[in-house]
Amino acid sequence: MFSTQFDRLESGPERIYSLKAGAPSTRLRQKCAELVQKATLSLHKLEQLPDAFMYGAEPGPALFRLELAKFLTEQYADTVNHEDLWVNAGASQGLAFLGSVLFQPGDVAFVEEPTYFVALRALRDDLGMKVIGVPSDKDGIIVDELEKLMMEHSNELRPPTDKKPYSAMLYCVPTFNNPTGSYLPEERCKK
Ligand SMILES: Cc1ncc(COP(=O)(O)O)c(C=O)c1O
Repeated sequence: MFSTQFDRLESGPERIYSLKAGAPSTRLRQKCAELVQKATLSLHKLEQLPDAFMYGAEPGPALFRLELAKFLTEQYADTVNHEDLWVNAGASQGLAFLGSVLFQPGDVAFVEEPTYFVALRALRDDLGMKVIGVPSDKDGIIVDELEKLMMEHSNELRPPTDKKPYSAMLYCVPTFNNPTGSYLPEERCKK
C-alpha cells in the first residue's frame, strides 16, 4: 500500500494539518471499499446497463445523466436537461475541459486572489491562459474590483467567435472557498 501526503500529515508525530487542499479523511476513505462494492454489484444487476463495463457514451451513462438531471432540477428549483450534462472525473477535469474547449492559450482568466492552487496551475501552466488576480476580502471576490480590471484589460480580451463565444473566463469559488473558507454573499453573486 502507498501513503499519500494527507495520510502522512494526519498520522505523523508532529500532527501537522494541511489546509492547502480539501480531501476526505482516512476514516471516510475506509468506508469507500464497501460503497464501491455495493455500487458495482447494483450496476451489474441493472438490465438497462448491459454495457456498464464497456466503453460508454462520451457524455457519460444516459441513466445516470437522467437521474442527475432530476436531482439537479429539484435542488436548483429550475429545469436541468440531461442532454446538457457531461460527466467527468471531478471539478479539476471539468475546468480543464471547459478551458480547452471554450478558450485558447493567451485568453484572459480572472481569478480571485488568493485562489485554489490547482486551478491556478491548470489555467496558467496547462491551458496557457493569461491569469489576472482580482482582490478579495473576507466575503470573497470584490465584484467592483473585477469590473475595474475588466475595463483596464479590455483591449486584451479576445473577440468572441462562434466556437469560442466567451472573451474571458472568471474562475472563483463562491461557496466554501479554498483557501479562505469564505462564502460569497447573495448581493455579490447577483452583481
Ligand atoms: C476549490 C476546489 N476545486 C476542486 C478541488 C478538487 O476537486 P476534484 O477532485 O473534483 O477535481 C478542490 C479540492 O481541494 C477544491 O478545493
